[in-house]
Amino acid sequence: MTLNNTCEPILKGQRALVTGASSGIGSAIAKALAMAGAKVVINYAGGADRAQAVVEAIQAGGGEAMAIRADVSREDEVEAMFAQTIATWGSIDILINNAGLQKDAPLVEMSLAEWQKVLDINLTGQFLCSRAAAREFLQRGVVPELSNVAGKIICISSVHDIIPWAGHVNYATSKGGVSMMMKTMAQELAPRRIRVNAISPGAIKTPINTAAWMTPEAEAELLKLIPARRVGEPDDIARATVWLASDDSDYVTGVTLYVDGGMTLYPGFDQGG
Ligand code: BGC
Repeated sequence: MTLNNTCEPILKGQRALVTGASSGIGSAIAKALAMAGAKVVINYAGGADRAQAVVEAIQAGGGEAMAIRADVSREDEVEAMFAQTIATWGSIDILINNAGLQKDAPLVEMSLAEWQKVLDINLTGQFLCSRAAAREFLQRGVVPELSNVAGKIICISSVHDIIPWAGHVNYATSKGGVSMMMKTMAQELAPRRIRVNAISPGAIKTPINTAAWMTPEAEAELLKLIPARRVGEPDDIARATVWLASDDSDYVTGVTLYVDGGMTLYPGFDQGG
């Protein structure tokens, strides 16, 4: 295969679904995929108006998008969302498992409900969506005009799939699970021409972690953990996602791409040790 050296948008004609796309990293990914030529489903669980605003932003740029509400942890809702996508656009080529949340508490104070909710959305949600996407990829097969493979799955994980995180045992555990789920799916699906990869963002300016960068004092503390000395932007993740969704990364499967300004480089060891 050759690199895409035409002037065509790199994802032209492909159909993508981004979970949790009404804000933060998800909305940036959705817009970037649309700019790269994909039609995009903006999945959301609450806040229909914000999802609609993302749809309208994409349409204003000449792209195609639709919003679909579904709680990714509910099997029936996930199945209905994929059925609607396939009924409307014929099939699906790219799944971005992005929906995620935090419910922070010290271990000894964490309720079972807080543990379960985070596992349900962050891990089970990625399983349910991946399974639905893979079923469609497999029954449809490769469409050479669109892509070298039958489909691409990208799991948005976190640096906390490898960095333990006190006070966030539910979240870190869910992301550790995403890492192994992604690799296992990649191994299982590679012979059937489906690529599965993960992106692990570091600290990115989004609503999930406002407290960590909102004040100059908080940001200064956070920057001590980031060798690149800047907090990331959602577009940092969106650009990496477009590459992993395109045939330019055709020989890449089962990897986690850390997009974190070096947060996983043990910054505490930049002196001494
Ligand atoms: C979390 C953020 C945190 C970042 C770096 C992310 O996965 O959602 O709250 O700022 O990791 O610690």
